[in-house]
Amino acid sequence: MAALPTEPGDEGYFVREVEKRDGGCLRVKQCSRGDVGCVVWDAAIVLSKYLETEQFCDPAAGINTWADKTVVELGAGTGVVGLMAATLGAHVIVTDLEDLQPLLETNIQDNAALVSSGSVKAKVLKWGEDVAEFLPPPDFLLMADCIYYEQSLEPLVMTLRSLAGPQTCIICCYEQRTMGHNPEVEKRFFELLLRHFESEAIPLEKQDPEYSSPDIHVLHLHLRP
Ligand SMILES: C[S@@+](CC[C@H](N)C(=O)[O-])C[C@H]1O[C@@H](n2cnc3c(N)ncnc32)[C@H](O)[C@@H]1O
Repeated sequence: MAALPTEPGDEGYFVREVEKRDGGCLRVKQCSRGDVGCVVWDAAIVLSKYLETEQFCDPAAGINTWADKTVVELGAGTGVVGLMAATLGAHVIVTDLEDLQPLLETNIQDNAALVSSGSVKAKVLKWGEDVAEFLPPPDFLLMADCIYYEQSLEPLVMTLRSLAGPQTCIICCYEQRTMGHNPEVEKRFFELLLRHFESEAIPLEKQDPEYSSPDIHVLHLHLRP
C-alpha cells in the first residue's frame, strides 16, 4: 500500500473544500499525482451537494433522510460523497481499490469532527468481486463518475446487482462526455444496467441550484421487480 504524507502542507497534496448547508466545511485532500481516484471530480461535488437538498434534509420540517441509513459508496476516490452522507447522519462504507485506501483513511480522519451521529469507514471493494462483507443490502448505494472504461462495465453492473436489495436506492451521478470512447462506454453501461434496474432522472430543479450542470446527470436506480 502506498504511504501518504500526513500533514496538510506536504508536497503532493492539495485540499478541496466543500461547504455544507449547516455551515460546516468538508476538507478533502487530493493528490497531485496518481490515478483518477486521487482527485475530486465534478460529479462528486454535484452528488455531495444533492444529498443535502431539501428532499433529503429539511431541518425546519424535521426531515433527515440520512439519519441512521446504511450507505455504501462505490469508486469513492477521495471519499467526499460518502463523507457528506456520514456528516448528515448515515452509516457509510466508502469503497475503492486498494491503492486509494490511504487517501480515504486520511480524509476520514481529517473530517472526523464533522461526523457525529453517523459513521464512516473505508474498505476495499473491487467491482465484480465478492460483496458478502457489505451485505445485507444497504439503504443507499452512491456512485459518482464511475462510468468511464469499457472493461469495468460488466463487473460494475454485477456489483450493483449483488449489493442492491429491493429497497435499495442507487444514486448514480455521472458527467456526460462526448470525447473519444466515452459515448460508447456510457451507452453500453446503460444497456447492461437497464436490464436489471429502473432509472429515474432527477431534473436540475431538484438538484443544488449552484452545484449542478446540464452535462452532469443524477439518476435514482431501483432493481426491477
Ligand atoms: C473517475 S474516479 C471517481 C472518483 C470519485 N467517485 C469522484 O467522483 O471524485 C473513478 C473511481 O473508480 C475507481 N475504480 C475504477 N475501477 C474500479 C474497480 N474495478 N473497482 C473498484 N473501483 C474502481 C477508481 O479507483 C476511482 O476512484
